[in-house]
Amino acid sequence: MSKRKIGVIPGDGIGPEITKTTLNILEAVGFEAEWVYLDGGLGSVEKGQAAMPESTIEAIRELGIALKGPTTTPVGTGHKSANVILRQALDLFANVRPTKTMPGVHGPFEGKHIDLIIVRENTEDLYAGIEYKAHPDVAQSIKVITRPGCQRLFKYAFDMVRKQGRKRITAVHKANIMKLTDGMFLEEFYKAAKEYPELKADDIIVDNCCMQLVINPEQFDVIVTENLYGDIVSDLCAGLVGGLGLAASANIGVNCAVFEAVHGSAPDIAGKGIANPTALLFSALMMLRHLGENEKADRIMNSVLRVCDAGQCLTIDLGGKASTLEYQQEVIKTMAS
Ligand SMILES: NC(=O)c1ccc[n+]([C@@H]2O[C@H](COP(=O)([O-])OP(=O)(O)OC[C@H]3O[C@@H](n4cnc5c(N)ncnc54)[C@H](O)[C@@H]3O)[C@@H](O)[C@H]2O)c1
Repeated sequence: MSKRKIGVIPGDGIGPEITKTTLNILEAVGFEAEWVYLDGGLGSVEKGQAAMPESTIEAIRELGIALKGPTTTPVGTGHKSANVILRQALDLFANVRPTKTMPGVHGPFEGKHIDLIIVRENTEDLYAGIEYKAHPDVAQSIKVITRPGCQRLFKYAFDMVRKQGRKRITAVHKANIMKLTDGMFLEEFYKAAKEYPELKADDIIVDNCCMQLVINPEQFDVIVTENLYGDIVSDLCAGLVGGLGLAASANIGVNCAVFEAVHGSAPDIAGKGIANPTALLFSALMMLRHLGENEKADRIMNSVLRVCDAGQCLTIDLGGKASTLEYQQEVIKTMAS
């Protein structure tokens, strides 16, 4: 039987290092795929291509699935984010970001049980890309929230909560100030909730949500929110449980799914062989589950949990001394034992 084809964008900075490690661990667990390497990010721009070349978008559209390393976007000037282009071109409307405490990982909530998922809208809001100078001294950015965009997001989020046997879903918004955009988001949330009477559906204003998350994150189960709030709140959540080196995500569309770490290309540590590959590895595990390969995903996850719990081979961001390669070798060795 021919192997399943999966797109891979190694990306920029630490991207190629952590992608190689992730694929080595997937290979060690016996997951077989034909990896189709694709361009994207600053590397493409430097080769005279677009940040997210049309050929990459078309390839993923055809393959239906891809694993993506982080890509660099210049701040304030330069090319548009390759991520934003990809999410919009493939209509990857839901971004799913789990946050869970890990054994052996030090952090402010060590020993507590945080297990929450953020479902972030991924194509609208201030990321719609409608930005212009209304006057030489006035720059404007338009926030776009659509009713169909809300409806498909909530359908996906509520179905996910039900499927995973979770109990509570909380909409995060600022509808007290943005009464039309966030007001419509909230209105559609409670309309959707009526179809899922067994679930507890409630809402919270984004600023209060941030405060509650740093005081008592265990109270949250699933958070569903708009694009910008989701971007910020999910990094906050990553910080609660050990940082960006552990934070995974899945971009889900109707016909395509792209799996990537929450973190960026980390130019400050690129090329040093010290990046933590776990966030991309966990994203790959979400991909395995998406493909129904739950047993292989469980085996890798158990191995990572044992390595972290033992605490002898942690990467520098988690307070250890291990290189990316040493960590990879330890995860593979532990999987076999
Ligand atoms: N999904 C993406 O492709 C994505 C996401 C966020 C940022 N970016 C881009 O990445 C570039 C750098 O952004 P930034 O510096 O603000 O954020 P970043 O996430 O790259 O780095 C923030 C900090 O976390 C550390 N870090 C991140 N990932 C790590 C890992 N796996 N292991 C160990 N340490 C890790 C970095 O060393 C840095 O100190 C920017 O161009 C930004 O646009 C891309």
